Amino acid sequence: MDLRTTYLGLELAHPVVASASPLSRELDGIRRLEDAGAAAIVLPSIYEEEIEAEDAITLALVEEGSWTQPEAGSYFPARDTDAGGLEARLETIRRARDACAVPIIASLNGSAPEGWVSFAHDVEAAGASAIELNLYRVPANLDESGEAVERRWLETVAAVRAAVPLPLAVKLGPWLSSPGHFAGALVGAGANGLVLFNRFYQPDIDLATLAPKSDLQLSAPYEIRQALLWISLLAGRLDASLAATTGVESATEVIKYLLAGAAVTMTASSLLRHGPGHIATLRDGLSEWMAGRGFESVSAIRGLLSADRLETTEPLLRAQYAEILLGYAGEPR
Ligand SMILES: Cc1cc2nc3c(=O)[nH]c(=O)nc-3n(C[C@H](O)[C@H](O)[C@H](O)COP(=O)(O)O)c2cc1C
Repeated sequence: MDLRTTYLGLELAHPVVASASPLSRELDGIRRLEDAGAAAIVLPSIYEEEIEAEDAITLALVEEGSWTQPEAGSYFPARDTDAGGLEARLETIRRARDACAVPIIASLNGSAPEGWVSFAHDVEAAGASAIELNLYRVPANLDESGEAVERRWLETVAAVRAAVPLPLAVKLGPWLSSPGHFAGALVGAGANGLVLFNRFYQPDIDLATLAPKSDLQLSAPYEIRQALLWISLLAGRLDASLAATTGVESATEVIKYLLAGAAVTMTASSLLRHGPGHIATLRDGLSEWMAGRGFESVSAIRGLLSADRLETTEPLLRAQYAEILLGYAGEPR
């Protein structure tokens, strides 16, 4: 069975990738994921706040040195792993690069271009195979239009693209007025791939304490549908690799995402729930299903049900929406 796939120009043994999560934060976890069979590993995002915190520490060291030695401001203290999270994360990339054969994808969380360019260079120098730019930010400023938010994101992508030649994927959320148009604009700005869709943190309210409640719910398979729709609508119509994220719990979701047109499927929740060994369950389940249906390669099923290969896109779109609502007979009792 030929499970190989190509994502961002990287040749992968199969389409099951470990998505960004705490499992890939440290070298031990990364090695565990590789040993368990992950085709590629995305590291947790490095957040702007971490870079700003490190900049503050560096500045404080420079200022402290300048105070005792007037010429000290002309040299920069070397960053070391104790200086903050950022250098430690770069060191993890370096060590993972040396220790692992599978591609290591570094993730940056940025919503504005500033700051990312030099860091993109650092990530490249550390040996990352690709960059995933995680456009995660709740646009809580009521004065900022969707157009302004998207413009900033596009500027960020263009700045990172101009800074490094590494393959660049952009991970985005589903709440956009016109996801297809924005996807095309991201590719125009230099993205080689899109990761659809991130699952944004949504707080709850605790009625006992009457306070906001922060807890993390892992995903469930029913949540694949939004990404399934958009991967199907975009596959074959953009010059970009598509990665599916959200809701992969079993081989069933892997297969559906590939049929829609994804080059790879990424999973975080299922690995947090069942452990890294679950990667083999997903990969082998895909292989068994393909054998049972007489498919010999992943390329034979990828995009089989993408919109551009369906005779009609009606089942994907609103055409039958009213019919479905009117015909709804309730949950089976
Ligand atoms: C505990 C946890 C930490 C995560 N950290 C990151 C992160 O640092 N960067 C990122 O882009 N996504 C992060 N994600 C999102 C996942 O990579 C993934 O895109 C999302 O959970 C949907 O996939 P899933 O249904 O397989 O969980 C995180 C998810 C979880 C559950």
